[in-house]
Amino acid sequence: MNDRHPPVRAVYEDRVAVVTLASENPLNPLADDLVDALVAELRRIDADPAIRATVLTGSSKAFAAGADVKAMAPLDYAAAFRQDVIGRNWDAIRAHRKPLIAAVRGYALGGGCELAMLCDVVIAAEDARFGQPEVVLGIVPGAGGTQRLPRAVGKSLAMQMCLTGTSISAADALAAGLVSQVVPTDRLLAEATRLARSMAAHSLPVLLAIKEAVNRSFESSLSEGLLFERRQFHAGFALKDQKEGIAAFRERRDPAFADE
Ligand code: HXC
Repeated sequence: MNDRHPPVRAVYEDRVAVVTLASENPLNPLADDLVDALVAELRRIDADPAIRATVLTGSSKAFAAGADVKAMAPLDYAAAFRQDVIGRNWDAIRAHRKPLIAAVRGYALGGGCELAMLCDVVIAAEDARFGQPEVVLGIVPGAGGTQRLPRAVGKSLAMQMCLTGTSISAADALAAGLVSQVVPTDRLLAEATRLARSMAAHSLPVLLAIKEAVNRSFESSLSEGLLFERRQFHAGFALKDQKEGIAAFRERRDPAFADE
């Protein structure tokens, strides 16, 4: 890692972390040092009880333009398998427990689109573009493009994007359900931070449980997912914050959650 130019910057303020991918190349190719630094930052955030939600963003040109193609060029199959290229770090990002909001400006291509889809909420600037251009390079998406994209936008558009390599605009991503909001580019960070703060106002154990339950919906049958949700709901009766939330509602005041 270059000490004078850390590839990831983080600012912690008022229960929210803003993590910026800031590679020397503003297109943010997902080189190992950048993804290692991102994983280390997300682990710090998970371990920090003062932080409850995170905004992940990139440069004005790109959230990330995909895997580092130059680093991939010399690899053969044995090296890729031995090094578990992508696997180790991406599973660690997936394991992040607190709410994670992707705030996308510019290109989110290949691994960049897949990184955005690993986040819990994606909001886009008007200039954002999402795509899986791997096919153009003669490779198959490697971090969820063929799996998360069809769940987000449906089979037809996912096939079209993966099989042609062409990207879609922020407006099309909104219409397809890949992102939940499109905002003017100069408002993106403020809007993402506002969203993170509105999550961070709530009880941390409840936020963690909700994230776990929504993610379970992608991994299980409906009846298994509903059972998991109901048990989480029942478990909530053991939380002081559940008593506090209900009491505050009844007393017409703001709740004071203790994360217990
Ligand atoms: C390494 C990259 C890069 C990448 C751009 N560069 N993308 N280097 N990995 N993914 C480098 C270029 O080689 C060039 O370096 C410099 O950044 C500027 O790029 P330009 O192409 O000149 O910029 P521009 O004309 O603005 O075009 C931007 C772009 C284009 C549309 C984003 O760069 C592009 O198409 N990039 C590749 C996108 C891609 O195919 N992504 C998928 C990768 S595969 P030099 O040294 O020449 O100035 C993947 C697999 C997923 O992601 C696996 C999971 C992680």
